Amino acid sequence: MDTGNQKKIIITGGAGFIGSHVVRLFVNKYPEYHIINLDKLTYAGNLGNLRDVEIAPNYSFIKMDIVDFNGIMNFFEQEQPDAVIHLAAESHVDRSIEDPLAFINTNLVGTANLLLAAKTIWQGNNHGKLFYHVSTDEVFGSLALGESSFFKEDTPYDPRSPYSASKAGSDHLVRAFHHTYGIPVIISNCSNNYGPNQFPEKLIPLFINNVLHNRSLPVYGEGINVRDWLYVVDHADAIDVIFHRGRKGETYAIGGHNEWQNIDLIHLLCRLMDEKLNRAQGSSQRLITYVRDRAGHDLRYAIDASKLANELGWQPSLQFEEGLRRTIDWYLANEEWLQEVTSGEYRSYYDLHYHQR
Ligand code: NAD
Ligand code: DAU
Repeated sequence: MDTGNQKKIIITGGAGFIGSHVVRLFVNKYPEYHIINLDKLTYAGNLGNLRDVEIAPNYSFIKMDIVDFNGIMNFFEQEQPDAVIHLAAESHVDRSIEDPLAFINTNLVGTANLLLAAKTIWQGNNHGKLFYHVSTDEVFGSLALGESSFFKEDTPYDPRSPYSASKAGSDHLVRAFHHTYGIPVIISNCSNNYGPNQFPEKLIPLFINNVLHNRSLPVYGEGINVRDWLYVVDHADAIDVIFHRGRKGETYAIGGHNEWQNIDLIHLLCRLMDEKLNRAQGSSQRLITYVRDRAGHDLRYAIDASKLANELGWQPSLQFEEGLRRTIDWYLANEEWLQEVTSGEYRSYYDLHYHQR
């Protein structure tokens, strides 16, 4: 498509949870850019996430699989993008335990295809170009419970699930293309996101959906694992800041400075759900069911995001309880969305694969 002198940015995975928030932010904030959302629309991709921006003149969508080498190569040659923000991935740890190859294909082969396409069209003229790779803190492995250590940009890689290993491999490929071919890249590694439009297989939306339908809340193991939660809009904001002001070749760790043991988070969620649904306090908590632990379950993730704060001035904007209230309000106001994405063959990983203890 001819977009004149507009800077052209391909956002992969833009129909997914985080990608849709990044697309919305960029389309609304930067009318001088043309945003192309490139997405295969897997079970996790939903164009309904973007109804409010789909008619914007600086937005377009292309349905494409990043594993399709020829398709990606032809598309890049035709569009000549100035930048790529790469979010497309298989993203759920439990699914990666069940089907690692899907993760290796999309996260590794798909990322390699995008890098090769960028290299082909940018080589010899890298000026103003950027391949921004959105990654995860899970590449760093697991911290001990009760420790005060944090993941930082220079923490050695130690991925422990097929998902995190595939993301670690994709990070290595991105750096290798920077060092070997001079492709301008930036990587960010973020902690657990939550907020509107998250597919109800991840802890928070799954539990909201289950409370709504009076289904049990499957807590893996003892519920003692710790995650560092960040509101998705804050993550999108960090990506915007890093994309525009981050240093090429650098890595930025992004986190909420907001550690919660799963069971404490679940108790808070249950309390807020009872409040919002006008149910007696304790109703939701009664749905908690301790189930067999996730295989290889990482104990604790926590991010030291001081590089991003000190160099680029980014800070999370939202307190966790406020973010959780907004998230619950969104799911309650969008039961149709929940219905849409959970209809058909979708059942939770636990329902499909685990036996209750
Ligand atoms: P998601 O599962 O909600 O969305 C993934 C999107 O990628 C979907 O729209 C899907 O259709 C698309 N996609 C999947 N395979 C594809 C393929 N082969 N070709 C083209 N499109 C494909 O994921 P998310 O939670 O929004 O995560 C987005 C990115 O952020 C991922 O790279 C993930 O690793 C990373 N990340 C996620 C979190 C989190 O807490 N969710 C935290 C840190 C980093
Ligand atoms: O840290 C960043 C990562 O966060 C992202 O890279 C991943 O894409 C994203 O899925 C997320 O991974 P987690 O495995 O931490 O998220 P999940 O929501 O699946 O699980 C959060 C915690 O809750 C984890 O300790 C497992 C536990 N859990 C999860 C589910 C789905 C349960 O106890 N019961 C459940 O049913």
